[in-house]
Amino acid sequence: MPSHVIAQPETLYVGTPAYLIASENPDGTTNLAPASSYWALGNMLVLGLETDGQTVTNLLERGDMTVNFPSGELWRAVIALDGTTGRNPVPDGKPRFRHEPDKFGAAGLTPQESEVVTVPRVAECRLQFEATLRRATPGLDGSYYMVEAEVVRVHADPEILKPGTPLPDPSRWSPLVYRFRHFFAAHDELGWLAKSPTADGPPPTS
Ligand SMILES: Cc1cc2nc3c(=O)[nH]c(=O)nc-3n(C[C@H](O)[C@H](O)[C@H](O)COP(=O)(O)O)c2cc1C
Repeated sequence: MPSHVIAQPETLYVGTPAYLIASENPDGTTNLAPASSYWALGNMLVLGLETDGQTVTNLLERGDMTVNFPSGELWRAVIALDGTTGRNPVPDGKPRFRHEPDKFGAAGLTPQESEVVTVPRVAECRLQFEATLRRATPGLDGSYYMVEAEVVRVHADPEILKPGTPLPDPSRWSPLVYRFRHFFAAHDELGWLAKSPTADGPPPTS
């Protein structure tokens, strides 16, 4: 059993997938932003998005989005978008930021047409969700929104699927994980739930 002391983390990001969220700007171009506040249940995603970002402004007006999951090899593309915003002028609260109208170009990424929503996907990401906003609820202090989005289509590189099935195989793919402002591509499998459809047998018991 560990002993504990009082810790003071600079953030409470203990480890969530880094994702790239694409949304439609008022002029019809695409905005792309890195984010990591994420959870999912059924076909719903709940994303935590800052109120002063262009992404949430876009989503409140046009609900279509794609949520694209980079794996470890794309971490530099995520970094390339750090400190960029689609907002023009840059909000006062983001002095370190610059306006970037071409986020795909800035990150060296390629837009790929979606099938259901109007917003493109990120071609280099092996797992991509097309989704549409169902509800956006302002957070307690007004600095963020809880964006509830329904996933309407999932696309995957066949190489990350269990052969002969449409099931993403966790032994073939891991998301880029953002943990306390560091990036990880952890891939050590420890076990699985008995109900996993991708497991080859019952979970190990010891
Ligand atoms: C790794 C990483 C994770 C981030 N996570 C979030 C997040 O979960 N929610 C959020 O609103 N912003 C997050 N940001 C910051 C946004 O990218 C930033 O607010 C940016 O202005 C959004 O772009 P936009 O203004 O064009 O929407 C993150 C940035 C990085 C680099």
